[in-house]
This record gives sequence, C-alpha cells and structure tokens, in this order.
Amino acid sequence: MGRLNLLIFSFLSTFVLVHCEDPYWFHTWNVNYATQSPLGVPQQVITINNQFPGPRINCTSNNNIVINVFNNLDEPLLFTWNGIQQRKNSWVEGTLGTNCPIPPGTNYTYKFQVKDQIGSYYYYPTTALHRAAGGHGPLVVHSRELIPVPFDWPQDEYTVLVGDWYTKGHATLKKLLDSGRGLGRPSGVIINGKRGKGDGTDEPMFTMIPGKTYRYRICNVGMKNSINARIQGHSMKLVEIEGSHTVQNVYDSLDVHLGQCYSVLVTANQVPKDYFFVASTRFTKKVETSTATIRYVGGKGPASTVLPEAPTGWAWSLNQFKSFRWNLTASAARPNPQGSYHYGKINITRTIKLVNSAGAVDGKLRYAVNGVSHIDPETPLKLAEYYQVTNKVFKYDIIQDDPPSDVGNKIVIAPNVINGIFRNFVEIVFENHEKSVQSWHLDGYAFFPVAIEPGTWTPDMRKKYNLIDAVSRHTIQVYPKCWAAIMTTLDNAGMWNLRSVQLERQYLGQQLYVSVLSPARSLRDEYNLPENFPVCGIVKNMPKPAPYSA
Ligand SMILES: *[C@@H]1O[C@H](CO)[C@@H](O)[C@H](O)[C@H]1NC(C)=O
Ligand SMILES: *[C@@H]1O[C@H](CO)[C@@H](O)[C@H](O)[C@H]1NC(C)=O
Ligand SMILES: *[C@@H]1O[C@H](CO)[C@@H](O)[C@H](O)[C@H]1NC(C)=O
Ligand SMILES: *[C@@H]1O[C@H](CO)[C@@H](O)[C@H](O)[C@H]1NC(C)=O
Repeated sequence: MGRLNLLIFSFLSTFVLVHCEDPYWFHTWNVNYATQSPLGVPQQVITINNQFPGPRINCTSNNNIVINVFNNLDEPLLFTWNGIQQRKNSWVEGTLGTNCPIPPGTNYTYKFQVKDQIGSYYYYPTTALHRAAGGHGPLVVHSRELIPVPFDWPQDEYTVLVGDWYTKGHATLKKLLDSGRGLGRPSGVIINGKRGKGDGTDEPMFTMIPGKTYRYRICNVGMKNSINARIQGHSMKLVEIEGSHTVQNVYDSLDVHLGQCYSVLVTANQVPKDYFFVASTRFTKKVETSTATIRYVGGKGPASTVLPEAPTGWAWSLNQFKSFRWNLTASAARPNPQGSYHYGKINITRTIKLVNSAGAVDGKLRYAVNGVSHIDPETPLKLAEYYQVTNKVFKYDIIQDDPPSDVGNKIVIAPNVINGIFRNFVEIVFENHEKSVQSWHLDGYAFFPVAIEPGTWTPDMRKKYNLIDAVSRHTIQVYPKCWAAIMTTLDNAGMWNLRSVQLERQYLGQQLYVSVLSPARSLRDEYNLPENFPVCGIVKNMPKPAPYSA
C-alpha cells in the first residue's frame, strides 16, 4: 500500500473507530514470590499467576488492555510496558516518577490502549531490584487483519526472552547497591527463564514442522550484558525491530542489546533433528552461554554439541546496526505518519547532549547523566506537575543541553527532569566516554536512531546521519567511546522516563525524566488523572485539581 493510500486508510479507520470501540482484553495478575532454579540453584523469583517468565500479553493494534495487578509481595510494586507508547497516558508509565507504587497486599488496575502500534515488546517491574527476580514477560501487538504484514503469515510464533541472570536474590543485590558497591558479574544467561543443559536431555522449548517458517520474537530482558542470539544451522531473516518492519536482511546471528527486541523468520529447511538456539553474552571477558532446544516434528537425533561461534568485538556490532533499515514501503500502523516519514526534513528545535558517567558520592557508587544522578522524590514528578506544586518537589532543567566535556567528573544527586516543549522536534546525542556498552530506553515515544559513531559528537557529525530510513524504535545502544544520535517529535504529553537499561546504572541514578506539558491542559493532548489513581507524598491530602477540559 502506498503512502497516500495509507493516509486515506488511516482516515477511514479513524472514522470507523468512532462508531465501534476497540476490543478489550482483561487480565488478572497475581504477583508472588516463588522458589525456582533458573540456573540450577534454588532462589527466590517473582512469578505472575505462578509463571516465570510471566504470561504473554497478546493483542492487536488499538486493542484495550486491562490488567488488575494483585501485589502479594512484601514490598511496593510497579510494572512498566517497555515500548508501548501510551499516547496521552503517562498515568500508566509504571515508573516511580509517574506513579505511586502499589502497596503490598493491595491491587491496582492498569488500563491502556496499544494505539497505532504493532510489534514485539515486554513488561517488567521497575521497583527496587525486582527486575533481578523476574516479573517480566512478553507483550505482542499484532497487525490488524486489514493491514497486511510484509511477509507470509508464519506457521507459528515464539517469544524468546533472553538475558543475563544473577543467582543472588534481588534483596541481596539491592543491599550491595545500597551499600555503595556494584552488582558484579552476572552468574549466567537464561532463555525464557531457563538455562539449557545443552547435552541433549533438555525438553524442546520450540518445535518446527519441516518446511514451515516461524517467527521468533527475541528480546533482551537482562540486566547488564548485550546478548548474541543465533540458531545452529539456520539463518534468520530480520522482519521487525521494536514495532517497525525492516528491510528483510538475512543474518547468521544478531546482537540484541539490553532492552531491545527483534523479530526474525526462521524456516525449518535443514535435516529434521534437534538444533540449539544459542544466547551468549557479548563484550565480556568470560562469555556466558545458554541453549534452548528446537525440535523438528518427526525429526530424529540430538542437536550437535558444537555451537556456532559468536562474533567478537564491537565493530561487527556497529556494522550490523548500520545494516538495519526501515522498510518504507511496508504498510503498518504508524504513529503520526504525516510527520514520521519525513523526519530528515524537519528542523531540529533542540539538541540535548547526554553524557553518562560513573563515580562516587560520599564514598558510594553512583551513575549519572550530565553530572546528575537521579533520585525519585516521594511525590511522583507527574503528580507534582498535575497538582501544580513542582516548586516543592523538583527543579526543571538542572542539567545543561550542551555540557562541558568534563561534566562527568563531579556527580550531584537530585531529581533530573528535562522540560521538553510540546511538539518540539528534538535531537538527543548520547555520548559514552566509558569503556562499557550503554543501552538507553525512552518511554512514551519511538525515535529515529540516525547514527552511532566512534569519538565525540560535533554538529558537523550530522553529515553522517541516516535521514531516510532509520528504524523507528525505542532503545538504542552506544558502544564504548562512541556517540549515538536519535530524533523524535515530543508530541506525546506526559512525564516520560529516559533510562539506562543496565539495572545497576538505572537504580543508582542513570536515568531522567522528560516532561512534556501541553499548555492547554486539554483532553485533546492528555487524559485526565484516572479514577482511583493512588496519590502519595505531599499531594496525598490535597484537593484534586480541576480536570482537563475537552
Ligand atoms: C494472538 O493474537 C493474534 C492476533 O490477535 C491471534 O491471531 C493469535 O491467535 C493470538 N494467539 C494466542 C496464543 O492467543
Ligand atoms: C481490585 O480488584 C477488585 C476485583 O477483585 C476490583 O473490583 C477493584 O477495582 C480493584 N482495585 C483497583 C484499585 O484496581
Ligand atoms: C518491504 O515491504 C514490501 C511490502 O510488503 C515488500 O514487498 C518488500 O519486499 C519489502 N522490502 C524489503 C527490502 O524487505
Ligand atoms: C528550516 O530552517 C531553514 C533554515 O533556517 C528555513 O529556511 C526553513 O524555512 C525551515 N523549515 C521549516 C519547515 O520550518
């Protein structure tokens, strides 16, 4: 379908929606502790309805999702929906800057619509170090039948949540960070909550009928390391990255950085037997590996114990990044299609350079962005804005857009909030002076990652940007001593978290919020504070402000 048709189509579908509400999917989640052995050692994990990883949320573009979460843990809890844009609805952001956490022994109902999105996502808890105990699960948004996907409908599809894992419990890990130390090295890698023994005795995790093609939706839900994913004897055809249909290149393996999701098509075209899906850590001295068995239906014979090798070094990874292209002719649900096709032609209204750093404050390890290590005030930032008491809770723009190169030498602890102007077109440059790979995620938006390059950024570097077909996505890696540039239109009013996806970095302050206030306080731009929205901190007993106008 051409662009013009697409516009007409979006117009027609909007028209239809006025008359018929999109379907609702209702879920009840019981969140508990349980004892499981992801790496062979019994430990406390977080289950949802007794499942680890949690249940798959499966839906179609524009569906409404209602999840009643019962927190049976002994600590406050929040979930975030990684990559779901939550148009006009940062009330369900699920981070401590927007929400009061769900107290233990109580329940709270998240309601959101997966507006104009397709793709592979996941959810996870954002409170304390709960993420280190699990509580994550896949979230899949299918294309509406009326909007064809740019490939034949696969025989079946599998979600594959890969990631590094610690055998120390989340409470022990939290104590380490609270006492000023780091998390150290993860203990291993898991695939959908398990580490395969890889000796032919594992039950198959995936099955394929000979000759058929399957979609594998691979996300890195880990805490510290990039993961390389590959399948013995099979190549993978890339079809989607975080909600965008890509040019369909074929790869032997994919680097999946923290927080990222990729969909690949795999055809069962080899000798019918078992094969290993392999996930291993990248850029680490000691490589941790895990396997999951793929079984051909009717096949005979175990998988070979010889695993395909992973690539080495980050230059390979950077080249792979450069090979990812958005398929501009594929039809798909796209937010704001008028603007997003031509992102390369929009004038930049603001450039924000963000430099990550690590250091000590009062002898304790902290991580920072432009010298500020974020801390969540007791009153969520979003509520402070809504009740118009920000002056009592935080200051906007305490970091500079264009910081000096030594900005990371000194670290201060404070709430870190960028005051974004509604509908500004911004360029954000992540500059990584450190020796480790970074991964950054922005809530509330998809963005165009227009470049990743070695060295430091100058305005002259814009010549290197891909201004045509960068893949619209929500998480981007930055290699050691490199920078990455992204662009997006701040058209989604709300308070949105921009964070390092590395768990210890995020927990120890390497995150900030982008506040995007619509001056109109209008329902056109943002939904009202939901009914029964829990309030806490200084706004707890304040009268509710007047609702937004229509
Ligand atoms: C997931 O959703 C898609 C589209 O809505 C549907 O075709 C598929 O059968 C669903 N799968 C499951 C397991 O519910
Ligand atoms: C808690 O769950 C009950 C149903 O068991 C529901 O009626 C109620 O609305 C939920 N409360 C919240 C705050 O979501
Ligand atoms: C892009 O999508 C179109 C439409 O489905 C498809 O025909 C084409 O092969 C895709 N292009 C590439 C390079 O993958
Ligand atoms: C973008 O900026 C250029 C140079 O300042 C100006 O000539 C042009 O009119 C601007 N375009 C838009 C769409 O504002």
